[in-house]
Amino acid sequence: MTITVIGHGYVGLVSASVFAELGNKVWVIGHTPEKLERLRNGDPIIYEPKLADVLKKNNEAGRLIFTDKYDQAIKESSIVFIAVGTPPAADGSADLSVVYEVAKKIGENLGDQFTVVAGKSTVPVGTNLEVERIMKQANPEANVAVASCPEFLREGSALQDTRVPDRVVIGSNSKEAIDQLLELHKDLPGKRVTTNLASSEMIKYASNSILATKISFANLISFYCEKTGADVEEVLEAVGMDKRIGRTFMYAGIGYGGSCFPKDVQALADTGKKIDINTGLLDTVESINQHARANFLDHILEKVSGKNIAILGLAFKPDTDDIRFAPSVYLIEQLLEKGYNIKAYDPAAMDNIKGKFGDKITLTQTALETVKDADALLILTEWGEFVNIDLSKVKSLLKTPLLFDGRNIFDPKKMKDMGFTYVGVGRA
Ligand code: UGA
Repeated sequence: MTITVIGHGYVGLVSASVFAELGNKVWVIGHTPEKLERLRNGDPIIYEPKLADVLKKNNEAGRLIFTDKYDQAIKESSIVFIAVGTPPAADGSADLSVVYEVAKKIGENLGDQFTVVAGKSTVPVGTNLEVERIMKQANPEANVAVASCPEFLREGSALQDTRVPDRVVIGSNSKEAIDQLLELHKDLPGKRVTTNLASSEMIKYASNSILATKISFANLISFYCEKTGADVEEVLEAVGMDKRIGRTFMYAGIGYGGSCFPKDVQALADTGKKIDINTGLLDTVESINQHARANFLDHILEKVSGKNIAILGLAFKPDTDDIRFAPSVYLIEQLLEKGYNIKAYDPAAMDNIKGKFGDKITLTQTALETVKDADALLILTEWGEFVNIDLSKVKSLLKTPLLFDGRNIFDPKKMKDMGFTYVGVGRA
């Protein structure tokens, strides 16, 4: 097939690369010439393990074509995916302006052939119908059907998640559109779920919200553990052994970040308020998430006596350079405001954090350099490099052996035996 993907962020570029890998010709539309040139030269721009290799291979095979022009790409394509950003607006709702802008351009460029326009961006229920309305307004003759085909990839394992999905969800009110999308996905494993348009849009929000709920529940239990002498890891390990509950996505820490959970929980709550639904559960999931990082900060302020703080881990999770809504950003802002000096290191997110904080913090080349002479060490992301760090070296380099483990990667007893003052999350 020939298809188009509009947007080349995590969702757009990874989806386009996997569809190209399956043998399709894939146009990728962006609007920044400099970025498109980098993509043509095999630079994925985003940090995602193994993506550069797939990009290079499919560029060379001529299956991936990057452009800022809609005309030829849309006319040649039987399926067009919209995979642009839907960032949170100031009131928590999803900002859909780019989706609608793109819908108009697609409408203006549709040819005579039947075309499926499928949303991959996470959008509130009803958005794809509005996309259809905008396209038909721009082109009343358009032979087009809209669909929703949500993406469930995680940053850091995006390629694997897309190549081996648990399920492929396709929603549309047009049978022809569903059939075309099933055909495009035919060589991918995983269950097929076909629904109407609204259900498919809801599936994405419900999936992200239940995952965020599990995390906030774990954090809520960690607050109890801190005040009662229980240990959250022991508690959740045993709770998760019940197959009805499971342990995945039930790890306490300094809260979820990234460009998805924070915005999607808020956007679902915003939709609920507009249609008169009690959104108390979602509002609480969000407020527990805020409290998780604030609680961690309180412990730091209470226990650190000097002014020099070392931070390991800046990305919102391992294997990504993404710092959007990362707990590290909140903690750095708060600590700077209170007059602390910060040295920090992350295996991938240094450029992004430099862009955000400039010279206000010191970035180092290695983890051990960061730790040297610090009054306390904060671990904010559970990169493998930190899980396997030489703790006796860390201890000898720190001015005070005080370690705050925001992701519970170390064993409290072992840390105590080594002579650290160890503060985890919800640990006895
Ligand atoms: C999330 C979903 O997991 C994907 O299925 C979805 O496609 C994606 O959002 C999206 O909507 O595009 P992502 O945000 O990339 O993926 O990363 P996750 O692995 O889900 O982690 C999100 C946050 O939750 C991270 O900050 C992580 O540290 C935190 N987390 C995760 C916890 O605090 N505890 C856990 O037990 C699991």
